[in-house]
Amino acid sequence: MYVCVCKGVTDHQIRQHVSDGARSWREVREATGCATQCGKCACFAKTITRDALQEA
Ligand code: FES
Repeated sequence: MYVCVCKGVTDHQIRQHVSDGARSWREVREATGCATQCGKCACFAKTITRDALQEA
């Protein structure tokens, strides 16, 4: 599912970045570009990142 339409980032990609070693929302954002355009996805993308970090 697309989380960030502007940058074409999916929830799967976010989870993948966390399992590849990203340890914060900031790192995920920098790696994917998620939430760097309109910013509407930021809240949801942060939630997904937090969930993924808790599972990691
Ligand atoms: Fe993510 Fe616009 S939907 S920056």
